[in-house]
Amino acid sequence: MRIIEIKTKGANSLIYIGEDMRNVSNYLPPGKTVIICDENIYKLYGQYFQQFPVIIIGLGEKNKSIDTLSLIFRKLLEYEADRSTFILGIGGGIVCDVAGFAASVYMRGLKFGFVSTTLLSQVDASVGGKNGVNFMGYKNMLGVFNQPEFVICDSKMLETLDKRELRAGIAEIIKAAAIFDSSLFSYLEKNYREIELLNPGIIEYLVYKSVSIKASVVAQDEREHGERRKLNFGHTFAHTLENITGMLHGEAVSIGMVLASKLSAKLGFLTKENVSRISCLLEKTGLPVETDIKPEDMLDTMKKDKKREGNSVHLVLLDKIGHAISHKIEYQHLKQLLNDLY
Ligand SMILES: NC(=O)c1ccc[n+]([C@@H]2O[C@H](COP(=O)([O-])OP(=O)(O)OC[C@H]3O[C@@H](n4cnc5c(N)ncnc54)[C@H](O)[C@@H]3O)[C@@H](O)[C@H]2O)c1
Repeated sequence: MRIIEIKTKGANSLIYIGEDMRNVSNYLPPGKTVIICDENIYKLYGQYFQQFPVIIIGLGEKNKSIDTLSLIFRKLLEYEADRSTFILGIGGGIVCDVAGFAASVYMRGLKFGFVSTTLLSQVDASVGGKNGVNFMGYKNMLGVFNQPEFVICDSKMLETLDKRELRAGIAEIIKAAAIFDSSLFSYLEKNYREIELLNPGIIEYLVYKSVSIKASVVAQDEREHGERRKLNFGHTFAHTLENITGMLHGEAVSIGMVLASKLSAKLGFLTKENVSRISCLLEKTGLPVETDIKPEDMLDTMKKDKKREGNSVHLVLLDKIGHAISHKIEYQHLKQLLNDLY
């Protein structure tokens, strides 16, 4: 097992990579724990947490909502949860985002932790302390920064995960490599086939590398005033694509990264050869790299993104593989560049 500590001003969060989820009781504080999971996790793994009160939420992005929060708060009242109650989210990014937010605001904040069950949540969503829900069709509009006490990443749980969901997680690993670690990017170019085979050594190594990158960024800039923005590489387009098409988060991130790489080249920051390396790696892992959504439709939705600042948006671009830059651009200019790309 590998352990990473994420240190921020307010709290420390421990990430246990390669721990068995059946050992989770060892990490819980004394007193009551309430579990939040989704329908699939309850069916597949409910037998391992029968002794706890459970709140089961629905599946998919549409359940990352105020209605789900309302269900959770009603159930917490029913279970007589008080300020000493611990909340354990067991699931992918959606469960972690919703459970972390619910725990953060119920009675002004309960302590919480996660068993992270998808590749995407192990490498990204469950770590770093961003919790929230969507609102009026816009991604993560309501949320908080608040670190979980711990996150358990059990690679064996990925054996029951759908292959499409697994690939969506690979997108976030490629993102981490593209923005911060060129040697990890080269490693992925050589070993991408091993990921689908779920070789535990390789999976745990990739989770460890991705979480290490995120941990060092979050430690410097928990609240995303500067360096943390770089973790949003591909995400400005991705959130828009997710909203319009309903594709998986990781799939949208894949297309978003290709668009951001092409823009990086168009603005003279990145070579065309490196754009092609990024696009090829994503395509080889089975991720989508193109969209037929029109630039004007994307920009309309993008204007409601949190990264907006007046008539401009902060785009994360690359000036080489393994190095990201933040670039403020006006919508009008972006529209023109996107039209040229299409
Ligand atoms: N907070 C953050 O920093 C952050 C970062 C990246 C993404 N996210 C968010 O994460 C969400 C996507 O997360 P996700 O990709 O994990 O999706 P998800 O939570 O919807 O999980 C994907 C599907 O896999 C199922 N599942 C989960 N674990 C399983 C397992 N071990 N075996 C079988 N099935 C399993 C789930 O029931 C679900 O149907 C998005 O809402 C995205 O915005 C948040």
